Amino acid sequence: MIIAVDGPTASGKGAIAKALAAHFDLPHLDTGLLYRAVARQVQLNDGDPGNESDAVKACEFDNELLEDPFLRSEKIGGVASRVSAHNTVRQALFERQRAFASQPGGAILDGRDIGTVIAPNADVKLFITASVQARAMRRWLEMNDREIDIPLVEIEQDIVARDNRDISRKDAPLRAAEDAWIIDTSDMNKEDAIASAVKVVDDWKAAQ
Ligand code: DC
Repeated sequence: MIIAVDGPTASGKGAIAKALAAHFDLPHLDTGLLYRAVARQVQLNDGDPGNESDAVKACEFDNELLEDPFLRSEKIGGVASRVSAHNTVRQALFERQRAFASQPGGAILDGRDIGTVIAPNADVKLFITASVQARAMRRWLEMNDREIDIPLVEIEQDIVARDNRDISRKDAPLRAAEDAWIIDTSDMNKEDAIASAVKVVDDWKAAQ
């Protein structure tokens, strides 16, 4: 079984994908982390994320970089969104994601273009979304927990900028596949969001 989980930043797609992987005992790939590693490598190379050849060169990052906790920061997320707009970067990361999706026994991948480009043949496609306000509030609470002081409005602006960049890029823009199940988590807590995703997969399995 291949499960594709797509959606914008802070929609809850990562938590849902992780929970589905544990529940259905499937290997999971967070594809955003690959773009984040490219972003970090551009910085380590003193490159410019807007420069295509700097970004492509950074695709040859060492796998150890994927363990770097700094990859999870908001700042790297923004740079990742910039490097991901280069088609050549997307091509460089394509095979790795496609191979993961096609492994025997199936897999779960989360990202922006899994249901549309990486695994258009996925058995179940989920598109996780939520209002900008709900997503910003989640991020703000997370940051508050980590004692990072940042105004809510700044997070909102960042989310809108990142959404716009991910939606409007020419190649593999963020969008729901036509056959995706849309889950709007704006008014859901984490447990409810996970339960509704598990139900979609269970219903699909029952129909087989
Ligand atoms: O899911 P994330 O926040 O870790 O992703 C960081 C950026 O990487 C995101 O803004 C766009 C890019 N990305 C992408 O273009 N395609 C994917 N499949 C995953 C992430």
